[in-house]
Amino acid sequence: MRVVGCGGRQGAQFTAPFSRDLSYTPPQLMKGSDVTILQSLLLRSPHVSGLVASGEYGEATKNAVEAFQSGNKLSDDGIAGAETTNLLLDLHMYDGYKDSGTVLPGFKYKVYIPVFKNRSVEVSASLYDADNNLRFSFPVKTHGQNAADGTALNMLAGDGSTPTGLMTFDLNTPEEDVKDFGPYPVNRAVQGLAGNAAFLISDIRDGILMHTGDFDPSLPLPNSHGCVHSWPADIKQVWQILVNDLGVVVHNNTFGKLPYPYKPQGLLSIAIVD
Ligand SMILES: *[C@@H]1O[C@H](CO)[C@@H](O)[C@H](O)[C@H]1NC(C)=O
Ligand SMILES: *[C@@H]1O[C@H](CO)[C@@H](O)[C@H](O)[C@H]1NC(C)=O
Repeated sequence: MRVVGCGGRQGAQFTAPFSRDLSYTPPQLMKGSDVTILQSLLLRSPHVSGLVASGEYGEATKNAVEAFQSGNKLSDDGIAGAETTNLLLDLHMYDGYKDSGTVLPGFKYKVYIPVFKNRSVEVSASLYDADNNLRFSFPVKTHGQNAADGTALNMLAGDGSTPTGLMTFDLNTPEEDVKDFGPYPVNRAVQGLAGNAAFLISDIRDGILMHTGDFDPSLPLPNSHGCVHSWPADIKQVWQILVNDLGVVVHNNTFGKLPYPYKPQGLLSIAIVD
């Protein structure tokens, strides 16, 4: 959430994933996932052109920050501080990604999840086969952890909501922690292809799974650390349809080890629909 004190810049507080002033500091350039995210969002600004998301705050990034600032009537000092990054999140955090309504050739399934900006709302995920036939629909939740102030961490932040976009997805043997991840095979987001997932997964965020757990059925689905949560019976059903009907193989769980050693068999598509 934006916190703007009176007087502007001085009172502004950073919003995750941003936590420090980012600036051009030659000869040792600032580096990090926050720089990559900054650049990726700047590329969505109509005031910015000719920038490459390199993860290094070079001169082109300074110029892009100045163009974003002056285009949005902020003081154009070329430093991405709290006020600038908060406005960047407000304007350009959403990727505009839309599901294509098809399944890319070479994949055996797609899970499509239309979500609302308010990730507390449980939504319906749809499992499609390679021929784009709907095989199963089931309730899911894509809300990550909350920040210290009680607001939801956004999808760009570690432990925040599940990122939107298109990504490869693959069936893995169950996690070892049955209480938190359930006893059934899990699906793992492997590589982002479009939208926010393209730059987040798996360079910046990994361990994004679709799984269940020992969830209290009398309560709403619990918040995750970025995973897609669903009920035990539904995750079991997904696994059985994938293996018995769609010819998907259960790959040995990599427990996050990179590079991912198998060819992912499916796709995960998550789009904001409000
Ligand atoms: C988000 O959705 C939850 C669950 O439906 C609801 O309780 C909450 O009021 C909503 N928050 C906002 C800000 O709309
Ligand atoms: C999967 O794991 C089992 C048990 O650890 C092992 O025996 C098997 O060789 C592994 N399979 C592959 C394809 O790595």
